[in-house]
Amino acid sequence: MKPVRKAIIPAAGLGTRFLPATKALAKEMLPIVDTPTIEYIVREAIASGIEDIVVVDGKSKRSIEDHFDSNPELENNLREKNKLELLKVVEETTDINMYFIRQSHPKGLGDAILTAKDFIGDEPFVVLLGDDLMQDEVPLTKQLIERYHETGESTLAVLEVPHDQVSEYGVIDPAAKVKEDGLYRVKSFVEKPQPEDAPSDLAIIGRYLLTPEIFEELEQTKPGKGGEIQLTDAIDSLNNRQHVYAHEFKGDRYDIGSKIGFLETNIEFGLKHPQTKDQLRAYIKELAAKL
Ligand code: UTP
Repeated sequence: MKPVRKAIIPAAGLGTRFLPATKALAKEMLPIVDTPTIEYIVREAIASGIEDIVVVDGKSKRSIEDHFDSNPELENNLREKNKLELLKVVEETTDINMYFIRQSHPKGLGDAILTAKDFIGDEPFVVLLGDDLMQDEVPLTKQLIERYHETGESTLAVLEVPHDQVSEYGVIDPAAKVKEDGLYRVKSFVEKPQPEDAPSDLAIIGRYLLTPEIFEELEQTKPGKGGEIQLTDAIDSLNNRQHVYAHEFKGDRYDIGSKIGFLETNIEFGLKHPQTKDQLRAYIKELAAKL
């Protein structure tokens, strides 16, 4: 079994839910407290043992490349002023093997994955979407890699969501629970079903472990929902020739792809951050008393 060493982070979407902020700035650079969302994602990949990361980016995404590049002027300044903690934070993310590919037109998540085909080659790999931050004792990407060691097949992360929200997600039709600890064989995958048509409330969240055969399926996939090449459709076809499994995530998931989720996550992370937690708690109590 080949090891899982590579990750794709698709970041070429238009980010329309965050306009006007995303007119010139990548959505993935918006911060949760003081850290761009993409840095949390990259840290999860590294903590899971991933060695090489490719970011699929689009227009106005230079800031992502700059963020993971060294910045000698800033580093010297921090060193001279003896701000060594900050220097460590800044330098930590410049030693990662990061690569960047351009998706020239945002034709969908499936198309973004396909642009990284040559980078991945003939190996299993993971996909991490920046719209979801995950927290658990073992990082979710690592959980998927451990599942791959058991099954040798593609495995997606799913989460039970409220029934009236299933139309925002890809949803699985589970065939059978393979293990009591939440591993499912899957009959089919449905992109954004209406609640009355949804085969379950198990929604695909932004972490996938895929075998390289997915690229052959993506090449055959026609535009689906929203006129975009949907990764879910390609996974559904892959499931006809190889098993695709779903791993139920039991940790905390922060949906930062919507305005309200983004604000809630900033508050929750701010309530844990050593520099902001006390003042923020006091402020929230004061504010709540006025509401
Ligand atoms: P979303 O559906 O969240 O779209 O894409 P979006 O453009 O990022 O955001 P909104 O909905 O307009 O606000 C899911 C993931 O797929 C990537 C996005 O960057 C995001 O990580 N994506 C989507 C691409 O890389 N290319 C595409 O053509 C579409």
